[in-house]
Parts: sequence; C-alpha cells; structure tokens
Amino acid sequence: MKRILTGVKPTGIAHLGNYFGAIKPAIELSKNSDYECYYFIADYHALTTVQNQEELFEYTYHIACTWLACGLDPNKVVLYKQSDVPQTFELSTILSNFTPKGLMNRAHAYKAKVEANEEAGEDKDYGINMGLYCYPILMTADILLLGADFVPVGIDQKQHIEIARDVASYFNRKYGNTFSLPEELISENVGALVGLDGRKMSKSYGNVIPIFADEAKLKKLVNRIVTDSTAPDEPKSLDNTIYKLYKLFGTEEQAKAFAQKLQKGISWGEAKAELFNLMNAYLSPMREKYNYLQQHREIVDEILRNGAQKARELAKQTIKNVRKAIGVVEVE
Ligand code: ADP
Ligand code: TRP
Repeated sequence: MKRILTGVKPTGIAHLGNYFGAIKPAIELSKNSDYECYYFIADYHALTTVQNQEELFEYTYHIACTWLACGLDPNKVVLYKQSDVPQTFELSTILSNFTPKGLMNRAHAYKAKVEANEEAGEDKDYGINMGLYCYPILMTADILLLGADFVPVGIDQKQHIEIARDVASYFNRKYGNTFSLPEELISENVGALVGLDGRKMSKSYGNVIPIFADEAKLKKLVNRIVTDSTAPDEPKSLDNTIYKLYKLFGTEEQAKAFAQKLQKGISWGEAKAELFNLMNAYLSPMREKYNYLQQHREIVDEILRNGAQKARELAKQTIKNVRKAIGVVEVE
C-alpha cells in the first residue's frame, strides 16, 4: 500500500481556492483503497508567521474542522497535528546536518524575501527568522518521518518535495537505505481558482470566498464578484468568474444549461442569484457540519488524539531506525 501525506498550515481562514485546489482532491484520494493517508495540521510551520496565541489556537481548530466538514473520514485518514508528533523535531535536528546551506539559500520562500529586502534597500535578512529559513528541513522531516511515497501539494510546494527527496538521498547514500523517496502529486487539472476580482483567489489579495461563510455573507460576496459591462439582455462571454464558479459547483448538465442562459442573455444580477443558490445548496451541509464541530471541539480533540497516536507509532519506528543508522547509543 502506498502512503500519502500532506499538511496544511493553520495560517488563515480556508477559502474556495483551498477547497478545490487542495482539500477536495486530497479527500478524493483518500477514497482510493490503494492508499494509506496521513493528513496533518502543520502548526509549527505556521509559527513562522502566526505569532499570536489566540490566532494559532483558533486557526488550528479551524483547519481541523475544515477537513472534517469537507468530508474527510477519520476512519480512512489519519488526521493529526504536527505538534503531537515530537519525533518530527528530533528528525528535523538530525536532517539539518545533511542539508546543504546553499540548498536553503535557494528555497523559493526565503529567496523571495531576500529579493524583496534587497529591492527595498534593507539588509538582505531583514525580518527573516530561522523558522522560515529552515522551513524546508522541517517539512522534509514531516514527510520522511512517516515514510510518505506521495505528497499531494500545490505547484508552489514542488521545490520543497524535491528538497525532501534530495536530503533523503544524501542520508541514504551515507547510511544505507533508510528513507523512501517521496514524490509530489500535483493535480494538473485544477488550475488556479479565481477570486472576486478575477485574479487567483488568495488571502494575500483579499479576494476570497471563505468555504464556511454564512448565507448572508456568501450572498454579499457573490454579489461583489466583478463582471463586465455587458447590458442585461446581451449575450455574455463564458470567460467570467460567475460561470467558472458555477462549473465547479454544478453538474455538467447544470453548467450547460447555465451557459445557454448566459449566451442568450440574462442579467448579471440574475446570474449571480443562480450561482448563489447553487453554491449555497452545495456548501450548506458542510457549513452546518463545520459549525457543529466548532461547538463540539471534544469530538475534534478525540479524532486528533487518535490520529496522533497512529502517527507516533510510525514515527517511533523511523526514529529508531535513524538513531541506529547514525550511531546514537540507546540505553533504554
Ligand atoms: P493563499 O494563497 O490564500 O495564502 P495557501 O498558500 O495557504 O493559500 O494555499 C494552500 C494550498 O491551497 C496551496 O498549496 C494550493 O494547493 C491551494 N490553493 C490556494 N489558492 C488556490 C487557488 N486560488 N486555486 C487553486 N488552489 C489554491
Ligand atoms: N508547506 C506546506 C504549505 O505551505 C504545508 C506543509 C508542511 C506540508 N509540511 C508539509 C505539505 C508536508 C506537504 C507535506 O502549504
């Protein structure tokens, strides 16, 4: 059985881009019985930017409830928090010795910050903490610790998986085959979902539709979607955000019928009302489940507790092998 692992950072409110680009595909994968899935909340990864107690706490529950409300079945997927698997941090310390510093200098997230600093005339490392600099090592530890074969991620994370593979190879070459080499799984057909303003939906653009926005908020956001100035009865091009979203939520038939209406000419107001109804019907049960779980966090705690226990079992075995490989004396 192949092992699949992925992590989500608790750094903000999950939006439809996250849902269609990352959460839904990972949940679909977990329905395939050829795979054993480990999905986790990367809370120590979030600490590079989320340095407020209440925020980290709330975002962590938010991500856990999001996975579950979007349909993750805890009997099929081991759902856990990174911080509950302390072996991660031991492995990260060990692996830092097998990670060339130059590789970290070239990691995209760090490089982008350095370039921004240079452009702004600041010291090149201004505002950069070691958590950000060593982020790829911690991520490598997450992946190698549980022996992941495949890691589903967005294209922005591809380099991190390559780094994990490189570090695993350096280690294996020195100490013999200890780690399996992970491969990234990038869903090609899910392009970037567009946001309210027509750009990629992203929290950094402030153009997002949160997955669990309440009905009134959802309606308001749908009404804010930018459209062109085609008059109400004129035919509409299908290259617009309303139709793109409609296609994601509707069946093929529904999308076809909607396309015909747009091409015949319905007003943007009517089109938005139809989109809202469709989205709301899709999202309402998920929203209800989300709200229920948020009000019953003991259910979430129990799932995370079980998940952590399973993840730790695997982790302990890996650490045992690694310690032995490098020559750590075991006295217990
Ligand atoms: P944001 O851009 O809002 O900060 P993140 O970087 O936290 O989002 O996204 C986490 C994951 O969600 C990404 O790796 C990617 O797979 C997916 N994702 C985010 N935004 C989109 C989008 N607009 N379309 C498709 N997938 C997305
Ligand atoms: N770095 C990933 C992101 O920003 C989150 C993450 C942390 C992760 N550890 C991981 C993803 C391990 C896959 C595997 O989205």
